Amino acid sequence: MSRAVVVGAGMTDFGPHDQPIEELFADAAFASIDDAGVSLGEIDAFYFGNALGGQAESDTHLAPKLATHIGLQGIPCQRFEDACATSSNAFKHAVQAVEAGIHDVALVGGAERCTPETGLGTGEMTKIFASAAHRQYEQPAGLTFPGVFALLTKRHMHEYGTTEAQLAEVAVKNHHHGQFNPHAHFGKDTTVEAVLDSPIVADPFHLMDCCPFSDGASAVVVVSSDLADNFAGEPVDVTGVGHRTDAIPLADKTSLSATQSARNAAQEAYEQAGIRAENVDFAEVHDCFTGAEVLAIEALGLFEDGSGGAATAEGRTYIDGELPVNPSGGLKSKGHPIGATGTAQIVELTKQLRGTADERQVEGAKTGIAHNLGGDAGTTVVTVMEERA
Ligand code: COA
Repeated sequence: MSRAVVVGAGMTDFGPHDQPIEELFADAAFASIDDAGVSLGEIDAFYFGNALGGQAESDTHLAPKLATHIGLQGIPCQRFEDACATSSNAFKHAVQAVEAGIHDVALVGGAERCTPETGLGTGEMTKIFASAAHRQYEQPAGLTFPGVFALLTKRHMHEYGTTEAQLAEVAVKNHHHGQFNPHAHFGKDTTVEAVLDSPIVADPFHLMDCCPFSDGASAVVVVSSDLADNFAGEPVDVTGVGHRTDAIPLADKTSLSATQSARNAAQEAYEQAGIRAENVDFAEVHDCFTGAEVLAIEALGLFEDGSGGAATAEGRTYIDGELPVNPSGGLKSKGHPIGATGTAQIVELTKQLRGTADERQVEGAKTGIAHNLGGDAGTTVVTVMEERA
């Protein structure tokens, strides 16, 4: 079995866009194709992530539509839908197909439009997002995603004494990183005071604890390592992809504060890569809300259970800290166009491991991980990528 490597990576700016989804995706796709130095004729499969197309775009057959739009007519195409973990799951399937020798060169990406440019505002989009919560038990109670993660975070605060100020430090750190990312939706600094003074959305979250609704697209080119030298793009090894699920109703989870799907996915990914959490140099994690980042860095084994809030407040997760988390700015600052988020994390890992992340470069980065969850972590995908040996 050969290894899968990423040879091309590209993304659009995240934030409001007035283009239709096919043009938005084409911008990211061609950025990754140009970066790889691959010709369209060499791409033999397309894996695509889009979560809300049916509801927000009235468009449910997007993979062949987008492939045709960029000149890839006729090749196998597949759309993935796994709430916010959508394009990470597409990436996993592309990696496995390349490793198995089924495809040599796969284009993988995601695109989503969530801002009012779709014609839908915060209320309507919140309702659409909430369709990833449990249909029978949670949606009728009015549980939306700020509420879901507020409940998980409240439990963490109850068990470990995590504070609102520590949560605010996650936002401050990610906005600090995001100012160095030209693609970020809200790439500007903030302060703990500004976060705590912003309006409450769902206790304990203020507006500035939340990621925004964003439009955007991202794409990567995955090839077999045997072929990597045929392309101009500097290859980065994919050494592990763990993918696990959990019960969706909060009431059925074994723990609210210890995210089971992330723990299991991380263990699977680390085992595949032959590494341990101690070997990770930096992480891109799913900080849809500040509390979600605290839960994630503990579930990944990067910090002990209960210590994630304090570690963040101590500055240990800054780009120049002992374990940089979300050097891209994360969902909080970079933005969160659902289906594009997973492959955007892979774009960041690729840049960091090539040493081309400019002002947000993590010095000496050799091993990076991406953690992308869907819904209330009913799905989590963890990817390990490493500088080419
Ligand atoms: N971070 C930083 N600034 C934000 C922001 C965010 N998440 N969301 C909005 N803003 C800014 C806007 O730019 C605007 O600034 P301005 O007054 O200077 O122009 C201001 O805050 C108000 O923006 P508005 O769009 O009116 O906010 P809203 O109340 O409609 O929506 C949230 C704000 C936080 C409620 C909304 O972004 C949200 O629900 N986010 C979570 C999305 C989600 O659940 N994703 C799924 C995760 S699993």
